[in-house]
Amino acid sequence: MAEVRLENVCKRFDDVVAVDNFNLSIRDKEFVVLVGPSGCGKTTTLRMIAGLESITSGNIFIGDRLINNLPAKDRNIAMVFQNYALYPHMTVFDNMAFSLVMRKRPKDEIKARVEEAADILGIRHLLSRKPKQLSGGQRQRVALGRAIVRRPEVFLFDEPLSNLDAKLRVQTRVELKKLHERLATTAVYVTHDQVEAMTMGDRIVVMRDGLIQQVGTPMELYYHPSNKFVAGFIGSPAMNFFNATLKSGGDEIFLETEDFRLRLPDQKAAALNQYEGREVIVGIRPEDLRPAAQAADGRTIPAVVEFVEPVGSETYVDVKTKAFGLVAAVGRGTTIQAHQNIHLEPLMDSIHLFDPTTEEAIS
Ligand SMILES: Nc1ncnc2c1ncn2[C@@H]1O[C@H](COP(=O)(O)OP(=O)(O)OP(=O)(O)O)[C@@H](O)[C@H]1O
Ligand SMILES: [Mg+2]
Repeated sequence: MAEVRLENVCKRFDDVVAVDNFNLSIRDKEFVVLVGPSGCGKTTTLRMIAGLESITSGNIFIGDRLINNLPAKDRNIAMVFQNYALYPHMTVFDNMAFSLVMRKRPKDEIKARVEEAADILGIRHLLSRKPKQLSGGQRQRVALGRAIVRRPEVFLFDEPLSNLDAKLRVQTRVELKKLHERLATTAVYVTHDQVEAMTMGDRIVVMRDGLIQQVGTPMELYYHPSNKFVAGFIGSPAMNFFNATLKSGGDEIFLETEDFRLRLPDQKAAALNQYEGREVIVGIRPEDLRPAAQAADGRTIPAVVEFVEPVGSETYVDVKTKAFGLVAAVGRGTTIQAHQNIHLEPLMDSIHLFDPTTEEAIS
């Protein structure tokens, strides 16, 4: 049983604030993913949980135990790093056994635990090889095996799949999730890849410049991003953004730009009184833009197709309106071609609006 709790945790390196007032309760057996751009403080957060980095202020608990000053070796946490860090002169067996040997466990027990972990990972036939005789994916499994044999209370993963090719990464992602189900151990997983975050996390923590932007399930972040940064970070291709002015016409409220206007559904309009006459940032996901047969005032956006990107299951269409570019994800059977004039109809119930000053979500 291991719940991990970070309370107001800060980490400063001289004048760099790497992690700023980080608050998060990770439930027992939960798989939490920290995601964000390079330098946002993900690794530093993991290293503080592992005890490899001191904390400048705040508290970290595992269960009810305050672990701020507990040495790394006493934390019962196993960390898997991006570069695997296997000992090149040792066999796979010895690499996996290493932490148990250091703890002076009996030989029989070590053998049983290494073999059990090797079976879980399908690498029993590799136990007598040295790391240089393994593929990248196999090395990655050995690194996982080394963590599993310790039966830790918490697993920490720092971009463990980033050295694998795209196909193996997808495969290993699925294996890791299954492994987590089987081992039922609390896990914190760091990645800068939002697809990895979405597919693996029970909950995702989006970070930027050391600060948590939002914590939620993958679908909460996708449907209800709390600000423009999260909205743009989660989802692929990324959400489209443009500025528009909120104007009322009769009983209706429109988002107006210089060459088109979009009528807001009543339930969205209701929350927007204070923005009347003001500019807002509009966010529309590519999958919420549909080609329309013809122009319709209040419903469609006129655009010229710049290029068409078929990716197999989908086709992405990059268009230009008078003032900005957009990407629409249309079906794979599309006949749309470059240089064509088209009309795109956003699903207005799915649009997002952000305050242009704070970039916080408005509705
Ligand atoms: N030992 C250190 N000394 C000084 N600054 C550091 C140190 N370690 C990290 N930093 C700084 O702290 C910030 C957060 O770094 P961190 O490694 O946690 O980022 P990250 O989110 O893991 O990035 P990446 O995706 O590139 O791995 C960065 O600005 C980094 O330069
Ligand atoms: Mg990092």
